[in-house]
Amino acid sequence: MSENTEFGSKLGLIAATVGSAIGLGNIWRFPAEVQSNGGAAFLLVYIICLFVLGIPVMLAEFSIGRGGRGDAISSFTNIVPGTRWRAVGALAILATYLIMAFYMVVTGWTLEYLWFSITGELYQGATVSNASDIFGARMNDYLHTDAAPIIASCLVIFINIGVLLGGVQKGIEKLSNLLMPILFIILVGLCCVSLSLPGASEGIKFFLKPDFSVINGEVLVSGLGQAFFSLSLGMGILITYSAYYPAHTRLTQTSVIVSLVSLFVSVLMGFIIFPAVTSFGLGGESLAGETLVFATLPEVFLRMPATRIISALFFLLLFVAALTSTVSTGEVAVAYLRDHFKMKRTRAVIISLLPLTLCSAVCALSLGSMPQLQIMGKSIFSFLDNITTQFMLPIAALGGSLFIGWRAPRSILMGQLTNGGTMKSGFAHIALWLIRIVAPAGIITVLLWPVIKDLF
Ligand code: PHE
Repeated sequence: MSENTEFGSKLGLIAATVGSAIGLGNIWRFPAEVQSNGGAAFLLVYIICLFVLGIPVMLAEFSIGRGGRGDAISSFTNIVPGTRWRAVGALAILATYLIMAFYMVVTGWTLEYLWFSITGELYQGATVSNASDIFGARMNDYLHTDAAPIIASCLVIFINIGVLLGGVQKGIEKLSNLLMPILFIILVGLCCVSLSLPGASEGIKFFLKPDFSVINGEVLVSGLGQAFFSLSLGMGILITYSAYYPAHTRLTQTSVIVSLVSLFVSVLMGFIIFPAVTSFGLGGESLAGETLVFATLPEVFLRMPATRIISALFFLLLFVAALTSTVSTGEVAVAYLRDHFKMKRTRAVIISLLPLTLCSAVCALSLGSMPQLQIMGKSIFSFLDNITTQFMLPIAALGGSLFIGWRAPRSILMGQLTNGGTMKSGFAHIALWLIRIVAPAGIITVLLWPVIKDLF
């Protein structure tokens, strides 16, 4: 019996962590990054970053959370009282907030596409022969209507507020755990359809046959950023989650499973999108970015039976996957405000989420009818995406690894990695070395690559 309950709780724990990790990062952002960073070479960089840097950083964050048993900031000070390293936690929370601003916009698109699928508007007049023009144009038109994308992202924020106020986030998580297997099945189905398209092999070549000459500083830092974004690293989320892990949870095993599941979903998306892109001849510059998935997937749906039903189901599931990520993140902010400022729940929810409506509206407009909303030559949407994933997440991840590896008493990290000495320490010594040396050195090398490369 006790075996069963232990298994149950372990699965629940991994499911919750996977639930927060799997989201738009894998399904929407990954294909777009592969597309704009030269294909297979990016995939390779991403996989190396995931395993060599992502897993050690995840272990570091788990150790901070379970060792400190607090939120993203107080976990640091619980381990070393009064430490300035708590700034790392603050940076992570700030990064997550900025990510939310554009994440809500994309979640709004999934909601809108769910609606378009139900009403049939998305597929109106689309046939297999004219589809590639139609879906690209539809996404563009949609982005350039002032109100619709803003309304959609505000709606998403209000749904988040409702869930957090109603205290039903556990319910959403359960729902998501129930629905995620269906999402996997749909993804596998889409993958089969895509792979059987005429000309699919070109897309597979783009996705799997690396052209090493395209690897430059930009590709390296994008791969690192994508690995961290998709694993929710440097966001303070995993620190907060692992504070609730029981003492016997095997951190290493958990981090490997979470990373493998995340990689699996991303790669599946690659096998869906790129055969479709080459087969339909999409792939033009205008589709290289954020809109890629939204313009390509409907084409694949069009070639399946029951197009509208599958399409609606897919966007519904994607919406739920995104919602579990945003709600769990919202809860992190709310918990922080309640603990530190003794705020009432309602107030904490409103204060943390309401300003996001404005930020998201600005992001949405910068992609659509107000392209002049730019910072350093990029739309505000892309600017926030770049500055968080390529700069803030890696720095926060670096800070976390340095803190637990060097600043915190060594016994804390060793204790976490061996579950208080109850597990063999052989692997823990390797992990210790990965956290102290390999992860920090790797992150610094990638961030400083443009400078380092000129030294040789
Ligand atoms: N890993 C998440 C994803 O892929 C990233 C994320 C988590 C973003 C929580 C926002 C909030 O979608």
